[in-house]
Amino acid sequence: MNRKITVVGNWKMHGSKSHVSEFFAALGAHHFKESASIQMESVVCPPFIYLDHAAKLLEQNPKCELGAQDVSAHQAGAFTGQVAATMLAEVGCKYVIVGHSERRQFCQETDDIIAEKFLAAKSAGLTPILCVGETQAQREADLTASVVVGQLQALLAKAGAAAFAQAMIAYEPIWAIGTGLTATPEQAQQVHGLLRLTIAEYDATVAASLPILYGGSVKPNNARTLFSMPDINGALVGGASLNAQDFLAICDAAL
Ligand code: PGA
Repeated sequence: MNRKITVVGNWKMHGSKSHVSEFFAALGAHHFKESASIQMESVVCPPFIYLDHAAKLLEQNPKCELGAQDVSAHQAGAFTGQVAATMLAEVGCKYVIVGHSERRQFCQETDDIIAEKFLAAKSAGLTPILCVGETQAQREADLTASVVVGQLQALLAKAGAAAFAQAMIAYEPIWAIGTGLTATPEQAQQVHGLLRLTIAEYDATVAASLPILYGGSVKPNNARTLFSMPDINGALVGGASLNAQDFLAICDAAL
């Protein structure tokens, strides 16, 4: 194996218990292609409330890993409505998305809070997926590089590049999320290369093995060219991940 591609499905606030059952039945019945040179890992992130149901279905047929869409920065306590990293690990999560642009926008999450969540996830043994990305206006003002590199700084200041060992970054240009607009493979590669270089300035070994996923209108018809870029190590898929056939087609495009 010389390459690993990770495909993460982010269901956002969609789905139902029956959707979970149907989705994982389709996943269980699917025959993933095999490749001698590429290893594909799939991860599904349903809403918190369905994680336990999904975990039980996966016990019978462990075809993918489970992830959560958010995590508390705190370990336990009077934090009504929040879910601790240890709780996610207990129900079988291996991954957690932190700092998704919708949480930055609708829940006022700052880089500092996101860094705390990232570190809480790591201390519970979860692999955090840190989302970064610029708005359309920032791209047009030529601010993409400073925005995405800036979004790494709080974490680098708190924990250094070592924090990115056993972690992932997802580059999600906000203008491409749910819009049908996708960054071209070249645009995405440019940002991914920059993110890796930024980490490499602190720790070249961590940077070399850091998975950097692309997110923003990834579909079965554009996944393969995105995955062909050297610094794109997978995808964070929103809308298309709700449909098992589309999600599986994106997974197959990795192989
Ligand atoms: P999308 O969402 O694939 O629907 O654009 C991606 C995301 O928000 O993670």
